[in-house]
Amino acid sequence: MVEKWDDNYFLLGPYFEKKASSEFEAITDLDDSPAGRIVKRMREMGYAVHYGYWLVTGKPRVVLFDLDSVAKDLDAIKFNLWEKSRIPTINVEPLVNQTLCFGEMVRLFLKEYAEDNAKREEIFAQFHEWMASSGLPELKRDNVKVAMTFTTHATMLGRYLAQNVSGFYNKLPFFDWEQEAKNYGILAQCSVERQAALNAHVLTTVSDVTARECEVFLGRMPDLVTPNGLNVVRFQAVHEFQNLHLKHKERIHEFVLGHFFPSYSFDLDKTLYFFTSGRYEYSNKGYDLTLEALARLNWKMVQANMDMTVVMFIVTKQPYYSVNPDVLQSRAVLNELQETCTAIEKEVGEKLFLATAAGADHKMPDLNQFVDEYWRLRLRRTIQSWKTEKLPAFVTHDLKEEDGITDFCKKANLINNERDRVKIVYHPDFISSTNPLFGLDYGQFVRGCHLGVFPSYYEPWGYTPLECVVRGVPTVTSDLSGFGDYIMQIMRDYENRGIYVINRKSQTFSQAADQLADILFKFVRMQRRDRIMQRNRVENISDVFDWTNLRSYYDTAHDLAAKRRKP
Ligand code: UDP
Ligand code: G6P
Repeated sequence: MVEKWDDNYFLLGPYFEKKASSEFEAITDLDDSPAGRIVKRMREMGYAVHYGYWLVTGKPRVVLFDLDSVAKDLDAIKFNLWEKSRIPTINVEPLVNQTLCFGEMVRLFLKEYAEDNAKREEIFAQFHEWMASSGLPELKRDNVKVAMTFTTHATMLGRYLAQNVSGFYNKLPFFDWEQEAKNYGILAQCSVERQAALNAHVLTTVSDVTARECEVFLGRMPDLVTPNGLNVVRFQAVHEFQNLHLKHKERIHEFVLGHFFPSYSFDLDKTLYFFTSGRYEYSNKGYDLTLEALARLNWKMVQANMDMTVVMFIVTKQPYYSVNPDVLQSRAVLNELQETCTAIEKEVGEKLFLATAAGADHKMPDLNQFVDEYWRLRLRRTIQSWKTEKLPAFVTHDLKEEDGITDFCKKANLINNERDRVKIVYHPDFISSTNPLFGLDYGQFVRGCHLGVFPSYYEPWGYTPLECVVRGVPTVTSDLSGFGDYIMQIMRDYENRGIYVINRKSQTFSQAADQLADILFKFVRMQRRDRIMQRNRVENISDVFDWTNLRSYYDTAHDLAAKRRKP
């Protein structure tokens, strides 16, 4: 966008000091761009407005509103929303109040901007989500000269209902949006979303899957689908991403060694790492299906007497007290073991060198004599505290409460028994580089794995499988996710390229679990050579999802909005 619009492009957002301190760089010269001039005017009007660069790729200009400076007007804003747009916002939670303040600042800014730039042929505003859009209906009513596109990345009601009503998709056409919004106590949010959708010159959403929800819940069919992309950074040398896979896999090996080997060991060279990740929406994210399929996969692998091991990582966010002390302890003992071995290696190496240089009998000396008592004892002690009778924990943290994942694992006896070929590592926190267990950031962790598993039931788009693709990691998605639906539309041989789409539209839960288990079983029987080639094929798809290609959908939406705005 910056490439296309240069300093005419800027973003509007809320100001949060902590975030801003690392991601924002202020611009002092307010006459540097058209946005700066309006910032100056708003400050004169008494609002606290920050202006600068957002320190991401492209370094776009960004205007950030301090919401406290408008909070005193909240009652008037609410009154206005009800009077003019019939949006009820009494007694809403603090977060909704904040979004109303933000929406009002956006409205004021765009109004000033349009007046100041009256000579411009067109001004485009792209609204993302209801949280940015409570001011949109009034801008439309006041005929402010801005061509407005509203993009919804999901619908509020879709998220709630898919999670809580079984057979959601069959019932979809028959829901009464207002009734349901009241049921879930989200009438304000839904009303803002709906009014933004109805009043925008152009409505878009991220997938055909969500487009159907828009029709029912927002009362308008989207004009266009604007699929999601990424800033794809591909390496010059093709093998570079393969090297990274190996490098990061070794870090995961280290964790697995520390976690499992005190109880029993298996061949790390014949071990595959699968993972799923995302917010904790047990059935929406398809964790239920994934677990069921893993139990079936385990059975198949045990029956077939396979010597492969699958370690499944489940990465999500659930309330916990702390990392499980046993898990931390075995990690620490592993480090101790490593240090002791390195010290012995060094000692033996030095003494062996001296002994062989001095010795004349040309015989290989006994290496044991070079290890002194201290290190022998230390090694023996470490080995003793290393071994344990316990099974390796299948949850890495002490959870505040048991949940669907732990319940399933216990019921299915998928609790890291030695004979099981599928092992579970449930990590109820997102992964970051400061994580004591992996020492990898999320992107590196993804690279180190062999397969991402995301057979969602409700997923307007779903970035997680796409993030696998651009890193050259094969992935499972579903035909109910926006990404899966899109891949099926644009590509025929997606499966051969390493994107597996589970049919959740027309299959029962059990049929879908079978399909997934079959895919996983096929995957574990692949040879290393095949996996390497498949990674190449999947990485090759990346460019399709680069914003430099997908931006055009947004350009089309904006052009259409401009046409519609003109009288
Ligand atoms: N994610 C992350 N760290 C983790 C796990 C997930 O940053 O440990 C991110 C992931 O990279 C992705 C996002 O969480 O960008 C989830 O987005 P997605 O579109 O899959 O689901 P949504 O949150 O929209 O339901
Ligand atoms: C990359 C590396 C290879 C390594 C392979 C392991 O392709 O470049 O040197 O052998 O990863 O693949 P695997 O699927 O077994 O982890």
